[in-house]
This record gives sequence, structure tokens and C-alpha cells, in this order.
Amino acid sequence: MKQFTISKANEYLQQDVTINGWVYNIRTSGKILFVIVRDGTGFIQCVVVKSQVGEETFENIKHLSQESSIAFTGCIKEDQRSPWGYEMEVTEARVVHAVTEEYPIQLKDHGVGFLSKYRHLWIRTPSQRAILMIRAEVVQSIRDFLNNNGFVNFDSPIITGSAPEGTTSLFTLDYFGEQAYLSQSGQLYQEAGAMALRRVYCLGPTFRAEKSKTRRHLTEFWMVEPEMAYCDVKESMQIQEGLTLYIIKRVLEHCKKELITLERDIQKLEAVQSPFPRVAYEDILSLLNKHDRDKKWGDDITGLDETIISNEYDQPVFITNFPKESKPFYMKESQDDPRTVLGSDLMAPEGYGEIIGGSQREDDLEKLVSKIQLAGLNPETYQWYIDLRTFGSVPHSGFGMGVERMTAWMCGIDHIRETIPFPRTIERIYP
Ligand code: 4AD
Ligand code: MG
Repeated sequence: MKQFTISKANEYLQQDVTINGWVYNIRTSGKILFVIVRDGTGFIQCVVVKSQVGEETFENIKHLSQESSIAFTGCIKEDQRSPWGYEMEVTEARVVHAVTEEYPIQLKDHGVGFLSKYRHLWIRTPSQRAILMIRAEVVQSIRDFLNNNGFVNFDSPIITGSAPEGTTSLFTLDYFGEQAYLSQSGQLYQEAGAMALRRVYCLGPTFRAEKSKTRRHLTEFWMVEPEMAYCDVKESMQIQEGLTLYIIKRVLEHCKKELITLERDIQKLEAVQSPFPRVAYEDILSLLNKHDRDKKWGDDITGLDETIISNEYDQPVFITNFPKESKPFYMKESQDDPRTVLGSDLMAPEGYGEIIGGSQREDDLEKLVSKIQLAGLNPETYQWYIDLRTFGSVPHSGFGMGVERMTAWMCGIDHIRETIPFPRTIERIYP
């Protein structure tokens, strides 16, 4: 059966329909009630007139608390003046569940700490709904782009024995008496997948026990990790560029309403175009030093540096040719400059910082084994990964894009904790 939803109001103009939803707000003006109703797909103003619905129903609705669930029947009208665009003239009303307690989230500004405690309810508000809709669009556009460009979905395990991104940020767990970890990255398994299926990707949760309390860090976040056989770092960057532009295009096409709800400066997203500048790490140091950052070769690029860089360019920018000491063991050494690796980070503009980390992978057996040892890891644990260099090693590359950081940039919001339904940070595991 075709069910009416607020998102489809334009298809039901001048028709009688029923909205199954929740009360967001009620304003009284004598014998008329203006009820803002939400149904998960949108918000609409419903006008309840006493003479239409009768005294009893009118009084019942008038005293409903926020978030009471209701079924309103009536005619859908266009309303240019309303921020919601449409209006319902209610002829029949039924209360599904009358809330008797005071709703914790009022229509005023609460602090984020308070709202985070009520995340399970906070997600019902227009701005949080908009963010989560944009997240869903980001995820779907990632899948569509990859599936349409010859990539095969190839899921990496979540419980694993490997530590691709260093041993300091692992969540450990007892796996029947053996030590195991929650996955920091599905990359190593994607490399195996690329040798079997050529172009693959995984899109799933990843875990970092980092003690970082920044607006860009979660302990559980979602990452898409494409991996390509017979692909060098340059081609990989082109794919990253294509993916980024495609996500922006889709969000602009499908999430206009949500961007408006969030008061996003849409022009800034529309202005993003290829090719993104590619700047070597060494030149980035010079740039940072112009901002008195006192950087020398080998220094990390910190969160503050990322903000400076991404404010400097109004386009996303690739940083390339990183010193090998600053990057994980799997990155391929550059033949032109052995101090560096063939890796790149993509920095989003407007202060959003790193959204993608990628590289060409070390495909030389001996170099890889020695780098695994140098990283203090046990080559036996990685024997399966090393096998990939024994049996038909080829140049290959891949990258990881953080879904929450990408979403935060699209939304133009400050902190990535609002871009995932239930964020996990070092300070929060409830709700
Ligand atoms: O740069 P990272 O650590 O790279 C990797 O994990 C590679 N193995 C990916 C690959 O080549 N397959 O992480 C990639 C991206 C970052 O650019 C960022 O967008 C996101 O993942 N990210 C985080 N997002 C939220 N919270 C965190 N703690 C994050 N750490 C990384
Ligand atoms: Mg990185």
C-alpha cells in the first residue's frame, strides 16, 4: 500500500491523507492550534481548528507534550510562507501515545554535553536529522561511485591479529585465550582482495584507542578503503579526486533541504573542482613555517597545522612525499627520493583537515619484511600478508576515507561526533 510521508507532500496536494508522526511543537491561537509534526521524513505544519475536530479532540491535542505520537488526517495544501513548504488542514486526529513526562530536550539551545547524554532523542531534531541524512547520502554515493567504476565490495574482518596503523592505538580483546584486536583498518585484507578481484573496497567500522580529544577523532569510525592492483600512487590520487567530487555532487543534488536546514554555505561546496593541488610535504613545511610553526624535516603535521593548510587553500589539497619515518610500514619507498614514501593525505578546505590517507604499497618482499621488523611487529603474524609479495607481487595502491570527516565537511559542522548516530569517544560510550 502506498503510504503518505511528509517527504512526498508535493505528490498529495489537495488530497486527504493521514500523517503518522510525532508532535514537535504546538502553538495556540484561540480556537486554532498550529502543530508542527514530524514523521521521520520531514516536518510539516498542521492546523487544527476547534470547529472542525470538535471540542474534546481539540482539548486533547492542545495539551499534548512534545514527542507525543499522533495520527492526523486532513488535506495537504502548499504554503509558501511556511518554512516547511506545506500545511495540513486537520479534519481528524487520533492520539497514539500521549507523553506524560516533560521531554528533556526543549526547543532552546542546550549544551552539547547535555544533548550527547540524550543522543537517542537528540537525533529527532531537524539539524541532527539533516546531518544523518547527509551521512547516509555520503555512504550511498561512495558505494555507487565504486560499484560503477569496477570495484567489488570485499569485506575485511573486524576481529584481527594485525596492527597496520601502529601498536599504540589498539583495542585488545581476549580471543579464546589468544590476544586479538578490533580492526584499525581493513587495508591489509583489501590488498589480498585486490590480488584476487583486482579492484576492491570495504566500508565498515574501524577502531582506534587513541587518546585524542579533538573535533576530528572518534574511537569508532567508519572508513571506506578501496584497493587497486596494477595502480600507482598517481592513479590512486585521481580516483580519490573523482570519489570526492562525486560525493559533493550527490550531496548537492539530493540533500539541498538538509544543507539549508544546517545553513551550510553551499557555494563553498559548489566551488570544489579538479584537479586538486598536489604539494610535497617539504613545501608544506615551508608554508607552515611562514605561519611561525617552526617545522623541520620529519615533524608530524598536527591538527593545528591541518587547520592552517586547509585554510590556506580553498580547494582540497594533496600532501605528498612524506618522510618514511612518519608513515606506516606498508608504504612504498620512493625511488626518486628514498627519504620519502609514495603516500598522500588529502586535506579538505575550510579547516576540515585530513579526510583521506592513501599510498602505493611496498611490493618488494625484502623491503617489506625489514620494515615490518623495524616497526617492532612480528613477521610471523604477517606471513599471509608477506605471501602477497611472494606470489605475483604487483604495483598496487589504495586509500582510506573517513565517513564522519567527509560528512562533517559536507555539513559544515564543527565536530565529527554529530555525524554518526551514536558516537564513541574517549569520554563517551553512553548511550
Ligand atoms: O590515515 P589513516 O589512518 O589511514 C589508514 O588507516 C589506511 N590504512 C587507509 C588505507 O590506505 N586503506 O585513516 C584514513 C582516514 C583518515 O584520513 C580520516 O579521514 C579517517 O580515516 N580517520 C578517522 N576518523 C575519525 N576518527 C579517527 N580517530 C580517525 N582516524 C582516521
Ligand atoms: Mg592518516
